[in-house]
Amino acid sequence: MKIAIVEDDVNMRKSLELFFADNKEFEIVAFKNPKDALKVLDDSFDLVITDINMPQMDGLEFLHQLNNRYEAIVITGNATLNKAVESIRLGVKDFFQKPFDPELLLEAILRTKKLLEFQRTQKNSEIKNDSKKNKATNKSEEKKHQFIAESKILDEVKKLALKAAMTDASVLLMGQSGVGKEVFANYIHQNSSRCNAPFIAINMAAIPEHLLESELFGYEKGAFTDATAPKAGLFEAANHGSVFLDEIGEMPLGLQAKLLRAIQEKEITRLGSSKTIKIDVRFISATNANMEQKIANKTFREDLFFRLQTIPIQIPSLKERKDEILPLAEWKLTEVIAQYGLKKKLFSEEAKAKMLNYEWHGNIRELLSVVERAAILSDGDKILEKDLFLKPKESRQGSEKRVEDLESELIKQILEDCQYDEDQASKILGMQVDVLKHKIAKYGLKK
Ligand SMILES: Nc1ncnc2c1ncn2[C@@H]1O[C@H](COP(=O)(O)OP(=O)(O)OP(=O)(O)O)[C@@H](O)[C@H]1O
Ligand SMILES: [Mg+2]
Repeated sequence: MKIAIVEDDVNMRKSLELFFADNKEFEIVAFKNPKDALKVLDDSFDLVITDINMPQMDGLEFLHQLNNRYEAIVITGNATLNKAVESIRLGVKDFFQKPFDPELLLEAILRTKKLLEFQRTQKNSEIKNDSKKNKATNKSEEKKHQFIAESKILDEVKKLALKAAMTDASVLLMGQSGVGKEVFANYIHQNSSRCNAPFIAINMAAIPEHLLESELFGYEKGAFTDATAPKAGLFEAANHGSVFLDEIGEMPLGLQAKLLRAIQEKEITRLGSSKTIKIDVRFISATNANMEQKIANKTFREDLFFRLQTIPIQIPSLKERKDEILPLAEWKLTEVIAQYGLKKKLFSEEAKAKMLNYEWHGNIRELLSVVERAAILSDGDKILEKDLFLKPKESRQGSEKRVEDLESELIKQILEDCQYDEDQASKILGMQVDVLKHKIAKYGLKK
């Protein structure tokens, strides 16, 4: 298994390298920043372990650029809830707060390894069975199963969404990450008279600002250097259908007037053109940002905000619809069993209780991912609490101690390598001599 470790802190990086050095199943390649990693990462890597706060590029931005190409684990010294949730969104299954017990990291890596091996054997047998597969049935099944709504509170939301679907009014979906805003946007489109026309989703945060205008509104030949031929924008492409503006709060202020006009007047102009083009689209937008705050800070236009939310729909977090947790989990379990041809499994009572009492900051996305992993990795016909890997946080003292052990081991080895020349060792360690001296005393490493 080939693992990339991206960590700017030299001590942490070296400690991890040392920790894995004896383990012959792993080939570790360590990078001091994401930019170096991006140059080297290729198909031979299986897993990326990354820090978040790094000077040149943030670890989350790095994961974003990797676009789910690798399994990923986050290790960070400065964990905020937002960052943890954003990591879940980027497909990260394990998130460690420094200082952590390296043994736990090792366990997470071994889990990932098992998952990858499982997925690979599945892929191979899929290739073998491909000719027998009826893809059309699979697709329609996917559609049918996309949406579970078994709680009373979600039923109300669904009713509201259906009412909205009957009209052409702009809908604003609000709610935490992973609650199903995109699922609802789709649901509204599918249940509207526009269902046979395109549904085009655009994430405002994912497209660089300088490209967003031409993506949305299109351009004429010569509008900018690379515009060698005219191109319709996404609003035109969605004609007669629906446009889903995801993370609308991230829309650059400079483009907001143009969007307001598109919504109000139902017309746009391509870049480099003065001709107006009529569009017939319904706007659905989504946000988990504090829009009032953005309006107060003058980064979001109030008039646009009111236009976007003719029908505001708040989607409750999973915590507010606890009665949905088990139905969602059971549904996902059945789905994963069918998808991978696993033998039948059920949740144990303890596992159910654990799921019911967990925080689920990543909402449905997190729950579904935890169930999928548990279904694949658990042995036997019962999914136990331990198979969910929803352990309570480690006690700080305990884990700090183990990181100290690692650090002391690292310093000892470097000191031996350079015959206890402290100046040289401090350079290799990237640690000031004073600090090194202090640590040598603290760990009793004097020759
Ligand atoms: N009611 C539901 N039934 C089944 N699956 C759901 C349901 N709601 C959401 N999901 C699944 O949960 C995941 C997250 O949903 P979605 O992407 O719609 O969330 P979101 O609110 O747009 O999150 P974010 O703010 O992070 O973009 C998706 O895989 C989606 O298919
Ligand atoms: Mg979304």
